[in-house]
Amino acid sequence: MKPRPATLPHPADIWNALPAPMLLLAPEGRVALANSASETFLNVSQPVLVEKGWEGLFPDDSPLRSLVAEARASRTDIAAYDLLIEFIGGRRVRADVLIGRLPDREGWLALSFQPRAVTSLVDRQMGQQGAARSAVGVAAMLAHEIKNPLSGIRGAAQLLSESLDEDGQELTGLIISEVDRVRALIDRMEGFTDTRPPQLQRENIHAILGHVRRLAEAGFGKNIAFKERYDPSLPLLLGNRDALVQAFLNLLKNAVEASPPGGAVTLTTAYRQGLRVRAQGTGARVSLPLEVCVIDEGEGAPPAIADHLFEPFVSARREGTGLGLALVAKVVGDHGGIVEYDRREGQTLLRVLLPLAPEMAQ
Ligand SMILES: Nc1ncnc2c1ncn2[C@@H]1O[C@H](COP(=O)(O)OP(=O)(O)OP(=O)(O)O)[C@@H](O)[C@H]1O
Ligand SMILES: [Mg+2]
Repeated sequence: MKPRPATLPHPADIWNALPAPMLLLAPEGRVALANSASETFLNVSQPVLVEKGWEGLFPDDSPLRSLVAEARASRTDIAAYDLLIEFIGGRRVRADVLIGRLPDREGWLALSFQPRAVTSLVDRQMGQQGAARSAVGVAAMLAHEIKNPLSGIRGAAQLLSESLDEDGQELTGLIISEVDRVRALIDRMEGFTDTRPPQLQRENIHAILGHVRRLAEAGFGKNIAFKERYDPSLPLLLGNRDALVQAFLNLLKNAVEASPPGGAVTLTTAYRQGLRVRAQGTGARVSLPLEVCVIDEGEGAPPAIADHLFEPFVSARREGTGLGLALVAKVVGDHGGIVEYDRREGQTLLRVLLPLAPEMAQ
């Protein structure tokens, strides 16, 4: 059944009601349309924008101008997170800039400025990786200092048990199992202590995910349904297979633990052209076109810890060490990517964004 036209608002009203500032640029660069939010954002009225254009608002070397030029020249959509936009006159704002091409309209661009929500998400992510790194020193020291005496304690308890009665052996058994638990914890922490850059090879992400899925199905995930939504044409990435397997295994384990009975865990991959983030350290913008999501139907993390999930020792589970996601953040960070936590339509989404192998990116 067709919707009754009378009940639909006019497209211009919808366009003007959109909270994000948006411009529609014609092929020669003219502003064909500007919505109300863009007037506030750019501090110029719509008629003036349409008449005088947008480029004059920014200095010649404005990154915004070069992004638009790049989108035009490269014929790709572009997203730049956390761009510092400087206006002529000195006003400065930070925003995410999304530039999309209009389908079937050569040269037409929709330019939109995103509120800071996503930007701060990325910032937070960078901070989390910093927190994970600061745990490296502590972890390395602890691992070294605790592991040796632990073997001594375990060995002594074993020897002791040979000369004890049943009650005594129960106690030495307790010592041994607790020592094993601490040792396993230290082993996990050692995942952080390796600060050497990982050995990278060209890897197929689907092969890695397939392996992780099989491991999960044979163990902690045997009672859960796994679904896949893959983009089979995804190019190779430059990665360390063992580290990535461990990271995705951690994500799958969390998803399974969070799943309600009968819930499914979905793995998706996609190619996101034009997504840029600031690289750590250099501040250069890098492309992270490879997206992998691990999605579950659980309730998500408790709000009190939701902003800190990637920090070490943050856990809402009684048996949890809180090291799973910290390791994910470290591994993904070592690969030059980012990982974020998101809630969407009643689902929990852990999104990993990774760069491509250099020759693939060209
Ligand atoms: N998919 C998810 N849904 C809901 N909460 C999650 C999800 N993934 C992680 N969390 C929350 O984040 C916390 C930290 O996760 P992390 O993997 O770092 O540690 P953990 O799972 O508690 O312990 P470990 O991984 O050592 O078993 C979890 O305790 C949980 O509260
Ligand atoms: Mg975990």
